[in-house]
Amino acid sequence: MSYVYFIPKNRSAQTVTVRSYRERQFLYLWRKKMRKFIVAGNWKMHTTVTSGRRLAGAVVEAVKVPKGMQVIFAPPATHLTAIQKVVKGKKRFACAAQNIHQAESGAYTGEISAAMVADTGASHVLIGHSERRQYFKETNAILNAKVQRALDHGLKVIFCCGEPLSVREKGRHFSYVIRQLTATVLKLDPKAFKRIVIAYEPIWAIGTGQTASPEQAQDMHYAIRDAVRRRLGDKAADRVSILYGGSVKPANAEEIFKQPDVDGGLVGGASLRAGDFIELIRIAADLDKRR
Ligand code: PGA
Repeated sequence: MSYVYFIPKNRSAQTVTVRSYRERQFLYLWRKKMRKFIVAGNWKMHTTVTSGRRLAGAVVEAVKVPKGMQVIFAPPATHLTAIQKVVKGKKRFACAAQNIHQAESGAYTGEISAAMVADTGASHVLIGHSERRQYFKETNAILNAKVQRALDHGLKVIFCCGEPLSVREKGRHFSYVIRQLTATVLKLDPKAFKRIVIAYEPIWAIGTGQTASPEQAQDMHYAIRDAVRRRLGDKAADRVSILYGGSVKPANAEEIFKQPDVDGGLVGGASLRAGDFIELIRIAADLDKRR
């Protein structure tokens, strides 16, 4: 069997003939190692600046994030500057906004721009969360404009996708999710795509306590990576972190995070409890050490 792949350090292409199972296994693990393992907490419309500062403070004091991993807090926009101060100087901690407006600036009362977010020191922004798509009618055209705006301001994007229950029940979830991506981030060129993290969040699992099974998560993550590979090539596919989201908690995280194509989690409810979030980071760090 012959693979063409890229060595990330010197960026040169090599062709490797893989003969044995062990060699294939090695190549697989090596590719997996190229990806950053990310645990991100989406606080949604919860906490105040005061309680948020306490929550983030408790987490950064309790854990050391190992190399190759990243922990991201996505607090409400009002807290970004304060939470950014909490993570400043703490290795491998970062902040994300939960949303930006697609315009550069203008008369959009109540909205926040990519430039404003970047200026707080936040490094990421969530785009395409199902709650934004559903309650704020964000279409693919809007999402594409937001992604472009975020990238223009040097932000990285955690781009969410995921199917509703009715689609899964009809067995159309793979094509549904891949379509969400081909209409948006898979249109980017490979260079821009480097700044994208994908979060697969089945809508029926968000805030419901009902998680996708580890197999359901793995199957979808594999399909997503495969779609990235077809559109943007091996390098993009092997490098992109694909997070799972939807009722992740300490009791189910290990089984999900262990899956070969799962590179971490986007966590809602459990990220609001310092003890649970710390536990999730520890589970991820432990698994990352072994991969
Ligand atoms: P949940 O939310 O963990 O509370 O299900 C996840 C999300 O919406 O990002």
